[in-house]
Amino acid sequence: MTERSHNLSLEEMDRQSVLHPFTHAKDYAAGEMGDPRIVTGGSGVTIRDQKGREYVDGFAGLYCVNVGYGRKEIADAIYEQATKLAYYHAYAMHSNEPTIRLSHRLLRDAPNNMQRVYYGMSGSDANETQAKLVWYYNNVRGKPEKKKIIARQRGYHGASVCSGSMTGLPVFHRAFDLPMDRIKHAATPHYYWNAHKGESELDFSRRLARDLDQQIEAEGPETVAALIGEPVLGTGGIIPPPEGYWAEIQKVLDKHDVLLIADEVVCGFGRTGSYYGSLHYGMKPDLVTIAKGLTSAYVPLSGAMIGEKVWAVLQQGADQFGPFSHGYTYSAHPLGAAAALANLDIVDGEDLTGNARDTGGYLQERMHATFDGHPLVGEVRGVGLLSALEFVADPAAQTAFDPAHKVGAKIAGACLERGLIARALPHGDILGFAPPLSITRAEVDRVVDTAKDAIDAVTDQLTREGLLKAA
Ligand SMILES: Cc1ncc(COP(=O)(O)O)c(C=O)c1O
Repeated sequence: MTERSHNLSLEEMDRQSVLHPFTHAKDYAAGEMGDPRIVTGGSGVTIRDQKGREYVDGFAGLYCVNVGYGRKEIADAIYEQATKLAYYHAYAMHSNEPTIRLSHRLLRDAPNNMQRVYYGMSGSDANETQAKLVWYYNNVRGKPEKKKIIARQRGYHGASVCSGSMTGLPVFHRAFDLPMDRIKHAATPHYYWNAHKGESELDFSRRLARDLDQQIEAEGPETVAALIGEPVLGTGGIIPPPEGYWAEIQKVLDKHDVLLIADEVVCGFGRTGSYYGSLHYGMKPDLVTIAKGLTSAYVPLSGAMIGEKVWAVLQQGADQFGPFSHGYTYSAHPLGAAAALANLDIVDGEDLTGNARDTGGYLQERMHATFDGHPLVGEVRGVGLLSALEFVADPAAQTAFDPAHKVGAKIAGACLERGLIARALPHGDILGFAPPLSITRAEVDRVVDTAKDAIDAVTDQLTREGLLKAA
């Protein structure tokens, strides 16, 4: 047992005991990065830290606190369920009432006629489940070679071994011997960077579909089982698909008997202004992954929703393999289901999907009006309450900054100093916005105006440092 002093501040205890995701382990532990921000409370779109500072949370945590902070209805539902039955497992036909009611409701509202829900605790484990479902599916069909899953470069699907392999961002692979062999990556559908000169969006989408077709042919269609994609590419850059993209991709998947997994972890439950991103873009997924907005993160809960094709084969598989041998202790946790029901009551009752469409439309307008033509901004993009600014050294010539200058991180830092949380995304110099779906127009104004102030300040700084042409 290590000696630990009892007279430490919370900040020091944190430095000495917590290994944080995406934090420099050594410098943080050594105290060189200052104090952790200990979040002590939140209300609506605002959070508070241990020093009493308030921030407008322009990223809803990690785009998950969709109904905003401090919703007593959800806390009450969790409390009531915990008092009645905090836990029982879902193995061997056991169930609980909130799980049953939630499943019924999810299937009612899901895209493309989903048939069953399998529950987990995180987006990562739900995508892990999707991979296993896909492999099971092709084993039952007598196609044991058909196992590869294609994700996309800069797609984000989680950080566990399989879902981290699906994630198409090298920082998730480099130190961990990933990706696994069975996971392949296709091109990023980002028109701004990847379209040829003069190519229309639709032609760009068609080219990506042809490239996917060739990739599947090269791998051998008999070895490719599924494609996983976020309707709007999220952590890789908040990139809405180019015109016609999903329809073109679907034709290729159909041609090669390849399933589509829609990762709706960010888009699900209203964020794009439609209930699901799949509905927004007319996708026809065979499997749908949900998490985050399912409970607005009040309790960890995720789901893998299973469409008709896979469900039919799963039933046949029961004759061959016996009971479905995949389970987590916390699958179908009653507290998660109770939180989800109360959360969806708010999402539906307050029409937060409609708010994502209307107030989200206002956010998009204000972003364009404020940042189109800004000397630091190459692209303003988004849909609903998802928005991103891409910063470049020279917008006219479309030249990126040297990543060593960490321009995106500097801007996120400047926002934070001004009381706004926006997220520097891990690839390129991109600032992402994904506020709670409950945000008002006045709060959108505050987000955009604060971001403008921060970006102007960093623009001046970069100009002084000679990294940006004087405007
Ligand atoms: C689209 C998508 N899928 C999956 C995940 C992984 O979810 P979790 O962090 O809950 O494991 C995320 C997390 O950001 C995500 O954005």
